Amino acid sequence: MNTPLLDIRNLVVDYPGKGLRAQPFRALDSVSIDVRPGECVGLVGESGSGKTTLGRAVLGLAPVTRGAIDFKGQNISVLSTRERRRLSSDIQVVFQDPYTSLNPSMTIGEILAEPLIAQHTAQSAARKRIAELLDQVKLPSDAVKRLPRDFSGGQRQRIAIARALALRPQLVICDEPVSALDLSTQARVLDLFTEIQRDTGVAYLFITHDLDVVRYVSHRVAVMYHGKIVERGDTAQVTTAPTHPYTQRLWMAAPIAEPVAQRERRERRLAMAADL
Ligand SMILES: Nc1ncnc2c1ncn2[C@@H]1O[C@H](COP(=O)(O)OP(=O)(O)O)[C@@H](O)[C@H]1O
Ligand SMILES: [Mg+2]
Repeated sequence: MNTPLLDIRNLVVDYPGKGLRAQPFRALDSVSIDVRPGECVGLVGESGSGKTTLGRAVLGLAPVTRGAIDFKGQNISVLSTRERRRLSSDIQVVFQDPYTSLNPSMTIGEILAEPLIAQHTAQSAARKRIAELLDQVKLPSDAVKRLPRDFSGGQRQRIAIARALALRPQLVICDEPVSALDLSTQARVLDLFTEIQRDTGVAYLFITHDLDVVRYVSHRVAVMYHGKIVERGDTAQVTTAPTHPYTQRLWMAAPIAEPVAQRERRERRLAMAADL
């Protein structure tokens, strides 16, 4: 539990500027963060702070200017595309939008078979694994024959989670995976994330702008602001006694205007507290 699974050190990501004289834009400025096996590390910050860029850098999808991304002791930021593809069974991702992340013309069975086939899993073994996955995300086994459009947003996110788990990854990057869902669906999908983590020992880098979400799922939290991590620590400490002025402001901005949503949020918070 103490050796990090993922160890990012002094990561700098510059996006090229547009136009001839444009300066590159520094999206991540010397970011260090680690995730241990079986742990959930929350990455929180307002929109545009660089959270998605960090997740994409781990997935090999953002340009690394400097720094190291060690996964199980190996710096993966210098791997070739081919070497990186081999990592895809170890590092997976769940994105925010369950409506665009699933191919609308593929059945759920085909969607879940895809990663298995890519790793040359035999058909009978793939079928068995798909049944296990549907059971793990609590969807009926006849889902295999249906199309994404037959499912609600929350159910689609369960399918995306099942797909991410297909190859038994050790790390899943979760980029705002419940932000598109309504509150009660959010709570159920978050419970599923937690349950899967307990059962499989998978680690999460859990990206969100929502403080309630980060509080609910994370063991540790890092707060990002303008491409830098400005505060980090245990979830309880960072969420109850933040020391950085930005974190304090973020926490204060959290209450929302609509009374109904606010009541739901309060109830959810109480329910969460009761679960602890
Ligand atoms: N491909 C890109 N090219 C140039 N700038 C980008 C690119 N992707 C993101 N950015 C910029 O980098 C900053 C961080 O973006 P992002 O990582 O998406 O933040 P977050 O996920 O926290 O909202 C933003 O200012 C965004 O406009
Ligand atoms: Mg983002």
